[in-house]
Amino acid sequence: MNTPKKLIVGNWKMHTTIAEGSLLVNRLRKEIGEYNGAHIVLCPPATHLYPLHKELAATSKPKFELGVQNISEHEEGAYTGEVSAQMVSGLAKYVIIGHSERRKLFGETDKTENGKIAIVLRNGLMPILCIGESELARNLGHTKQVILDQLNACLQNVTAEELEKITIAYEPIWAIGNGNFAKPTIVAETILLIRNTIAQTFGRMNSTKVRVLYGGSVDGDNAKAYLDLQGIDGLLVGAASLNYKQFSKIILKTSPK
Ligand code: PGA
Repeated sequence: MNTPKKLIVGNWKMHTTIAEGSLLVNRLRKEIGEYNGAHIVLCPPATHLYPLHKELAATSKPKFELGVQNISEHEEGAYTGEVSAQMVSGLAKYVIIGHSERRKLFGETDKTENGKIAIVLRNGLMPILCIGESELARNLGHTKQVILDQLNACLQNVTAEELEKITIAYEPIWAIGNGNFAKPTIVAETILLIRNTIAQTFGRMNSTKVRVLYGGSVDGDNAKAYLDLQGIDGLLVGAASLNYKQFSKIILKTSPK
């Protein structure tokens, strides 16, 4: 059977200078060689986009695509310090929306993310929407409700045709940046829940168009257990994406077609 390639996204967060980012890409390239068994997306800081875009355009293999970690909720205007979707279109293909750090540290809400998804789609970019429960919500048994509420609110007014441009990243907040990765059984359950929730609004057929990733302390050692799960389309990787050895190990755990 011809299964689609897995999507492996690296979120560099606010790390690296442009020179360090370029070195990281070159090391990665050497490490994975001609391997083309995965779609690889790098999300560097916005300042790195243009130089990396130019650098990547000059080489064909392996193919890296670029994404950004955030964009403004506004299209254009007097919004000092903001970067718009239009500004990154042409340089990046993907936009991470609603990362839990944006929600916690910058006050973003599901309503904000819903508006950003609309802007991202209008500008021909592809959103990677992050959702996930807090430790408290999980302990109280509220995970299902949290996922349901986040999906319903963030995907409001999205059409069935737009679904195939959307990736959902299940990132339980308690698993991010601390080595406390979620058990694959939990991830499998939640991926099913995500697809079932989307199926309720968009229908079963359409729910299969959305790509679903897992993110939270993924590294070269635990990646395979997630990549083998039913219904998973890839991984969103934070800290390990800054280490070319670890990130390439993750990439090489996807099976070549
Ligand atoms: P982590 O980060 O892999 O360092 O846990 C994941 C993320 O924040 O997207």
